[in-house]
Amino acid sequence: MFLNKTHTMLPELKSVTHLNNSITNIYLISKISDLPENIFDKDEIEYISTRLSEKNQQTVILNKLGRIAVVYKPDATPETSVGQLLEKCRKTGESILGMLGEHKIASVCIVDAAQLQNATLAFAEGMMLGNYQFLKYRKDREEKESTLKMIEIVSEGLDDIRISELHTLCKAVYACRSMINEPLSALNAEKLASEFEAMAAEAGIKIEVLNKQKIEALKMGGLLAVNLGSIDPPTFSIMEYKPENPVNSRPVVFIGKGVVYDTGGLSLKPSASMDTMKCDMSGAAAVASAIYAIALAKLPVHVIALVPATDNRPDGNAYVPGDIITMMDGTTVEVLNTDAEGRLILADALTYAKKYDPLLVIDVATLTGAAEAALGRFGIAGMHAGAENHFARLKNSGFNVCERIAAFPFWDDYAELIKSEIADLKNIGGKFAGAITAGKFLEHFTEYPWIHLDIAGPSFLDKRDSYRTAGGTGVGVRLLFDFVKEIAKGKM
Ligand code: BES
Ligand code: MN
Ligand code: ZN
Repeated sequence: MFLNKTHTMLPELKSVTHLNNSITNIYLISKISDLPENIFDKDEIEYISTRLSEKNQQTVILNKLGRIAVVYKPDATPETSVGQLLEKCRKTGESILGMLGEHKIASVCIVDAAQLQNATLAFAEGMMLGNYQFLKYRKDREEKESTLKMIEIVSEGLDDIRISELHTLCKAVYACRSMINEPLSALNAEKLASEFEAMAAEAGIKIEVLNKQKIEALKMGGLLAVNLGSIDPPTFSIMEYKPENPVNSRPVVFIGKGVVYDTGGLSLKPSASMDTMKCDMSGAAAVASAIYAIALAKLPVHVIALVPATDNRPDGNAYVPGDIITMMDGTTVEVLNTDAEGRLILADALTYAKKYDPLLVIDVATLTGAAEAALGRFGIAGMHAGAENHFARLKNSGFNVCERIAAFPFWDDYAELIKSEIADLKNIGGKFAGAITAGKFLEHFTEYPWIHLDIAGPSFLDKRDSYRTAGGTGVGVRLLFDFVKEIAKGKM
């Protein structure tokens, strides 16, 4: 599995009972007197205290005879929400990575000196996620590689399980980012499925990868139509994690858009919009990485992940605008734009999901430029049908992990826009409300509580934004993991 390469760059994360004063220490405090007096002398405490009160500074870096100490005082005004505070901690954690790199530091110890367990974890999370690098294709990868290999945590009252869960989750985010960052030449539909197989084997997930013949036998007309222009066969991956005593009697099903490259097909994209289209399998990577983390953490929830995968490109045999295709459930679709391909492959997966009588289905997809235009990189466009409660919980998870969901209207009227004169549906809804008409198209194929997440905005960055590194961000992984953790707590 090529991801092993990036996994080795994931720092270790472990809880220790005593701080190790020979490595860089990071103190999280809520007031100056939290600083241990046997470590900082009067002058240092005076210095830290002045700096912390200066221009709202929250971090102080102290170089003690070559050993560095960082002091951080998470500061919240009464208006700061828990989610905002945690995000601040993550970003502060990331912000010291540059300094650690300059000093070629390999190990740090985070000391929670004020019972700030959540802030401590978030700080470590920002460091871990910000430390991700995708250097595989660079000659200078050895010089470039981050020196940070170990993060220790001293925190009374912080459960070891939470620390190991965080490590697992970061490992899954790394895996997700690397799959997105791999170009098509390294990761076509079949290779993507082999990555899933490797992840499944490691995490104890059952996996079946349907090949083209099986996809044909199932009459997945959407996936097959998009694949017509490809030289590579499509795949349909089914991952299932069923723990011994799940809290849910009916499974939660994730579906991820696995367009390994989107040229637009014959409705070819202009080259500037095509540049980053290796990211069009970000939804697939997110759901596979989420179930990977859920299984590694052994959460007591029955989860299934489905990924229809193909590239979308023009060729002698490619589907054309005007074609009418028949989907797996028998619905006919007039294809008016071959670049609206995501909904075609997702529709067949939504149909396939019916066989599980699911408690809830969540699809994750880089589906529309319209979602990106509306929210930029800061938000996921969310829509749902018959899943009011779960949607509220998912939005709440979004605030916890700062992968925030904005609920779009989902009125029936929008479904009018995708009615065709000559088929049951058409695959585009016109100039307006593109994210919603795409959602309405998907809704047609659902008959269970369902949530649609359009991640076109936040899935891929041209430049780093704090711990969200350039390229694939892994958006969705932490969101779904947090959501399933919440489900694991409660009765359904
Ligand atoms: N993969 C794109 C959507 C996308 C855009 C993802 C920007 C990430 C960043 C999708 O397949 C697409 O091309 N959508 C079209 C639909 C249109 C033809 C109705 C779009 O949004 O322009
Ligand atoms: Mn497209
Ligand atoms: Zn696409």
